[in-house]
Amino acid sequence: MAKGRDDLLRQAATKNKPKKIRNIINAYWRFSRFMFDAPALFAVGVVSGGKGFSKKLFEAEVIPSDIRGDTDLDITVGLALKGFILKGHELGLGTCVLTGPLTFLTCPETFMGVEGICVKCFVSAGFPDENPEPVERKPFEALYLEI
Ligand SMILES: Cc1cc2nc3c(=O)[nH]c(=O)nc-3n(C[C@H](O)[C@H](O)[C@H](O)COP(=O)(O)O)c2cc1C
Repeated sequence: MAKGRDDLLRQAATKNKPKKIRNIINAYWRFSRFMFDAPALFAVGVVSGGKGFSKKLFEAEVIPSDIRGDTDLDITVGLALKGFILKGHELGLGTCVLTGPLTFLTCPETFMGVEGICVKCFVSAGFPDENPEPVERKPFEALYLEI
């Protein structure tokens, strides 16, 4: 991951990107690196190569592209994760979903030896250091749009 960060910083410098970009890389580095301090770290993935409705039609050349190809898997893994995280909470465990590290890691599946699986995120878990108040919920009108 450190090599990935250095590569990104080098790319930003070579391409003369503004300081803001370097700050973004360094901020996401901090929000990624801490996962190694957690007592338990999970990699969460899906079996790649599955075929949903649109992929079947794309391969049959009925539609020009399978642009939403990952949507079903992303929703499915997100729903499964919610149950996992809530169960952890019930057991007194704190968790954090992380996708930031995936931008620093070119191909985590290879070095983890999990070919055929696409890693979608990491989840750190442990006994929480803090017990913050729940965040204020957005009002219903901010979440719902009738069209
Ligand atoms: C898809 C997704 C990716 C995330 N990636 C990261 C990450 O890379 N690093 C991080 O510190 N938090 C990440 N988070 C945020 C935490 O998992 C967690 O949701 C957040 O800290 C909860 O705090 P909040 O209640 O203030 O939103 C991510 C959240 C989601 C939903």
